[in-house]
Amino acid sequence: DILRTSEAFVDEMNRGLRGEDSSLMMICTYISPEGEIPPGEPVIAVDAGGTNFRVALVRFDEKRMPVIDYFKTYPMLGTERELYGQEFFDTVSQYLLPVIDRSRKIGFCFSFPTEILPNKDGRLIMFDKEVRVRDVEGVNIGEQLLKILKKKGVAEDKNIVLLNDTVATLLGGKASNPERTYDSYIGFILGTGTNTCYIEDNRNITKVPSVAMQEGFTIINIESGGFDKVPRGEIDIRFDSSTDNPGAQKFEKMISGAYLGRLVLEIMKIAAAEGLFSKEFAGRIREIRNLTTRDINEFTLSGHFDCGNEADEKDRVILYYIIDSVLERAARLAAANLAGVMLKTGKGKNPCLPVCVAA
Ligand code: BGC
Repeated sequence: DILRTSEAFVDEMNRGLRGEDSSLMMICTYISPEGEIPPGEPVIAVDAGGTNFRVALVRFDEKRMPVIDYFKTYPMLGTERELYGQEFFDTVSQYLLPVIDRSRKIGFCFSFPTEILPNKDGRLIMFDKEVRVRDVEGVNIGEQLLKILKKKGVAEDKNIVLLNDTVATLLGGKASNPERTYDSYIGFILGTGTNTCYIEDNRNITKVPSVAMQEGFTIINIESGGFDKVPRGEIDIRFDSSTDNPGAQKFEKMISGAYLGRLVLEIMKIAAAEGLFSKEFAGRIREIRNLTTRDINEFTLSGHFDCGNEADEKDRVILYYIIDSVLERAARLAAANLAGVMLKTGKGKNPCLPVCVAA
């Protein structure tokens, strides 16, 4: 029920802003949506997500178009094997060294629940999306990174700003469309994980009195993947308990890329045990250890599943409907999430002045 879910979402947003118990963290970013982009100034841009780790050097030209002077992608640390914080920071600083002397400013897009501090550094709350790095919870990411860089001989003081990927997306949406006026902006990620941020009137951020007292607007990182006021089924609950962080990120586990393939596999296994599929295909399903979101995407596009000849036409049709309903549910939940944010702000009621959702 999209409307009921979005109303529950608004309730949780309000509770989180007041600092009351809520499944939505409503993290104050201390970043205002206002401000001008200084042309010509290079900035080191770092991006740590659930799949990739990227380093770039970016500047804006006179026409405010981004120019990328350096760009490297690595697999995200802690996705291929578990590691400790020491190695994490060591490797990250190593990745930064080729560009470290090119700018004093580092923008670190860090896509994990992180409490942002007034100096715009961030203290990690937890890794999620099945990223496994130990002993970093509670650590100030920027401060620790700068310490290691100093040890490696980087003398200059750097200014590091940690921001969530949804926040970078909201600001990116704003920067890439300067000639159009919008009533407000939303940053939405539905990738390996999911999350949403939006612009809040400072007066409503009562859990941070120093912000609430100042006139103006601040971007709030909702951490919408943690939303838990949504009905889950038996299979969701069973699947959740098989993940690296049972009980956390319930909403994310119903809609995002790190989980959809695995959730479908869980359903397939139960469907097979309950006799929905042919004996041959059920036997094949029992052997499948891993199914990715990419796999189910390919199946819905091509109608084929890499499973030898075991699946007959009827099996394929049943499988299609299973996947289709999981995806439709995800779409409805994502819609309820965005609708909730719109309802909360009351923005975008005038069709000539819409809300820009940068997704
Ligand atoms: C994280 C968020 C992030 C989102 C999208 C979630 O797992 O908790 O901080 O924004 O993934 O990358």
